[in-house]
Amino acid sequence: MDLTDKRLVLIGGAGLVGSHIVDQLTAEPVREIVVFDNFVRGTRENLAQALKDPRVRVVEGSMTDRDALRRVLEGADGLFLLASLWLGECVNDPRSAWEVNTLGTWNVVEACRELGVGRLVYSSSASVYGDAVVTPMTEEHPFNNRTTYGATKIANEQMMRAIYEQHKLPYIGYRYMNIYGPRMDYEGTYVSVIMKVLDRIFAGQAPVIFGDGTQTYDFIYVEDVARANILGMQAECADEFFNIGMGLGTTINELVEILLELTGANLKPEYRTQEQSFVTNRIGSTEKAEALLGFKAKTPLREGLQRVVEWRLSKEKVAK
Ligand SMILES: NC(=O)c1ccc[n+]([C@@H]2O[C@H](COP(=O)([O-])OP(=O)(O)OC[C@H]3O[C@@H](n4cnc5c(N)ncnc54)[C@H](O)[C@@H]3O)[C@@H](O)[C@H]2O)c1
Repeated sequence: MDLTDKRLVLIGGAGLVGSHIVDQLTAEPVREIVVFDNFVRGTRENLAQALKDPRVRVVEGSMTDRDALRRVLEGADGLFLLASLWLGECVNDPRSAWEVNTLGTWNVVEACRELGVGRLVYSSSASVYGDAVVTPMTEEHPFNNRTTYGATKIANEQMMRAIYEQHKLPYIGYRYMNIYGPRMDYEGTYVSVIMKVLDRIFAGQAPVIFGDGTQTYDFIYVEDVARANILGMQAECADEFFNIGMGLGTTINELVEILLELTGANLKPEYRTQEQSFVTNRIGSTEKAEALLGFKAKTPLREGLQRVVEWRLSKEKVAK
């Protein structure tokens, strides 16, 4: 889709990924950028820079509210669907997980079809794969997921495929690896390992590693993820799922070492027994996204983490 003069809506656009998409969209010749968010996790502060652009508008509401959704989607050319409850929230409150992630997504899909929205870029997750059988994981990797969060993402992928079969609603879905970058949650229950390590370092305490630290993840910088979303909106392909990652594995030991170096902290990690089991060794093949979307992540981990450290330090200063 050519973005010129288009009205684009981002459901969940005030969160980590969505707010970075909004920032990048302001550099495009679009007509209007509408963020629809209920602010359970995202913030207006994430959109502060973008809201200086008169084409950016915020509508507060939930995708569980069908009427509010319809009002915001009326006349939309394209939609980025980012809203979702997270892994931990889905463990604690599975009913809300299904109501928000799946019924909410159905509300969106139904409204898109009935209102003739031209394209949908859906945020799925690499959680659909569960533990890796082979690495790097291609998009053909089996759904080994055993979590409610991943189950809602699989259900949504299947929902979109079925609707495409019936009505040809043009959509694509992204299976993100581990996204990091400025605007990540750093307070509350559901913060990432990067934030937990930085919390300890800034408090002068040894960062804690659960298990032996050899668990490997594919970390991707949020601005690369935002760019992938815009390329996805511009692309012509439909009914396809893509891994969005760097295609590189980093162990928790390596991650902690880089964070210690970047902060100049003279601390040694403390190893503790792993009580919870985590998915390990999740590295995604990047070939399909490169071939069909022309997407390749550019930001090296050290550079991205440097920006995260600077951003976190700026937050610490504001708090003092
Ligand atoms: N961050 C990651 O590492 C990662 C990895 C894999 C998949 N994902 C998926 O990518 C998407 C975006 O991730 P993110 O990191 O930006 O998440 P986020 O939590 O920062 O953003 C999601 C946004 O959706 C909003 N929201 C939640 N429920 C809503 C509802 N009912 N109606 C309207 N808005 C609602 C939240 O307030 C938040 O602003 C999510 O679907 C997530 O599951 C993220």
